Amino acid sequence: MTDKELLTMAITALENSYSPYSGCKVGAALLCENGKIFTGTNIENAAFSPTICAERVAIFKAISEGEKKFSKIAVVGGKDGIINGIFAPCGVCRQVLREFCSDDFQIILGESEKDFKVVTLKELLPLSFSPDNVR
Ligand code: THU
Repeated sequence: MTDKELLTMAITALENSYSPYSGCKVGAALLCENGKIFTGTNIENAAFSPTICAERVAIFKAISEGEKKFSKIAVVGGKDGIINGIFAPCGVCRQVLREFCSDDFQIILGESEKDFKVVTLKELLPLSFSPDNVR
């Protein structure tokens, strides 16, 4: 699974976005160490706070199916589903990723349908609070 292929899966997932309030469509595709892939999209709610991000949907789907070892995640998003710049994971999603992923976990950030950049979790969440802190 190449970074580009994972990005394409995130773009496909974005099409199922339920985002009538913000109009922002987000897609994520999470690659497990065993090769399985879980996708996610953002799901909004009229009460606003129950809204969940694409990344957490992908991670929670994977965890609920018994997967806990992850290699990388691709994330894309944009207003009305138009990808014209990176849509970096929010702080809550970064912390949820840190629960299950190490500092060198890779995040593929789509800049367009074709272009992307790759960053590590440590770059997005330096000096993180992690499960090690409560062991
Ligand atoms: N959103 C995500 O899906 N992932 C993020 O990391 C940032 C924000 C969604 C939530 C909401 O539906 C919309 O983008 C606007 O905040």
